[in-house]
Amino acid sequence: MEKMKELLDQIKNPQTNNTLTAEKRWQQIDLKDGILTVQYQRDGISPQDKRIIETNIEESLKGLEEVKEIIVKTTSSQSQDVFKALDNQPKEAAKPAAQPAALKTGHAPAANKRPVPGVKKVIAVGSGKGGVGKSTVTANLALSLANLGNKVGIIDADIYGPSMPMIFGMREGKPHATEAKKIVPMESYGIKFISFGLFINENDPVIWRGPMLGGVLNQFLFDVDWGELDYLLIDLPPGTGDIQLSMVQNTHVDGTVVISTPQDIALLDATKGLEMFKKLNIPVIGMVENMSSFICTDCGKEHHIFGNAGVEKASAKLGVNLLGKVPLEMELRTGSDNGVPYMSQNQYEGRAVWNAFVEIAGKVDSFFYPVNPTANDNKPGFFSKILGLGK
Ligand SMILES: Nc1ncnc2c1ncn2[C@@H]1O[C@H](COP(=O)(O)OP(=O)(O)OP(=O)(O)O)[C@@H](O)[C@H]1O
Ligand SMILES: [Mg+2]
Repeated sequence: MEKMKELLDQIKNPQTNNTLTAEKRWQQIDLKDGILTVQYQRDGISPQDKRIIETNIEESLKGLEEVKEIIVKTTSSQSQDVFKALDNQPKEAAKPAAQPAALKTGHAPAANKRPVPGVKKVIAVGSGKGGVGKSTVTANLALSLANLGNKVGIIDADIYGPSMPMIFGMREGKPHATEAKKIVPMESYGIKFISFGLFINENDPVIWRGPMLGGVLNQFLFDVDWGELDYLLIDLPPGTGDIQLSMVQNTHVDGTVVISTPQDIALLDATKGLEMFKKLNIPVIGMVENMSSFICTDCGKEHHIFGNAGVEKASAKLGVNLLGKVPLEMELRTGSDNGVPYMSQNQYEGRAVWNAFVEIAGKVDSFFYPVNPTANDNKPGFFSKILGLGK
């Protein structure tokens, strides 16, 4: 134990070159039955530096006989690690300033691409077709990325069916503005989000909404006080038309995830979505097969309600990564309907849906930050192994 502490004392924050001990970041160091659990506070540490720290911990401790396995946990003021139980209660929304936020309307000017301040990676989530689970996947992917220690935000850009306020249990949420006239995003389960649904009356006719769109997305990108985010996910409206195109042209989008069910018709539309992103030179991170199958709780048999492995086959044909297959599960829907999103509930850990989201988030994260770029692709790194993220 003494030797171990001595070695941990030398682990540095690559950004400041100070040790984590000097920065008073260590919160837990426990060794039980050969499993060493360490936890540190990671505010201000980028995902890249987090990986360097984890590799250094592994490298310096792997020689110790008493340590068989290492689990590294992190906490941050806005997100918690996968190993730490998430609150069952939505976190308090950011402290509202006096003024309510208002949206400007009208088409966006043909702006040049601008980065979103403080945001490291912007990911557009698309689906050619509606109703395939785009919002469900966006919300749960956000939570899964946060479970890996990332700070994550969501723009719900779906004007026709905004669903984030419902999924995150904040239907009555009213965003406020800061003194600098920035919109303060909602925060729930550690995820910051902004949604058109927070600004409109749910019964407003849809026809009014179209003309507002260009300007609104621009405001969601640039007039929201996002703070520091590792990932900002955009839940786009379904389809591949002008609306979607204009939305993703104002900022640099780092990658896209396309959701489809295994049905031919959904796949046909998803392929159009992929073409749209390719034309815009947006890298395709991969596809998600949602509603992949249904495992009958009575007979235990797996039923392929929307066809068998359609997205898997299509992604192979199109040369696109398959990020994961999310089966149908009742609790995924009820969680969304009740404002208690599935991946915020540790009780589901180990279930097929849970594992699918862990796999998808791991692949998205390592798309941008390869765990061990020199290693053979089929050989997951130590940390992906202990996190269960192996390809
Ligand atoms: N794997 C799943 N298992 C069970 N229910 C699911 C699953 N995926 C999505 N659902 C449910 O299916 C419905 C449609 O999903 P969702 O709203 O995420 O789709 P969408 O593509 O965003 O739709 P829209 O085009 O309306 O925005 C929701 O009620 C959701 O809870
Ligand atoms: Mg939706």
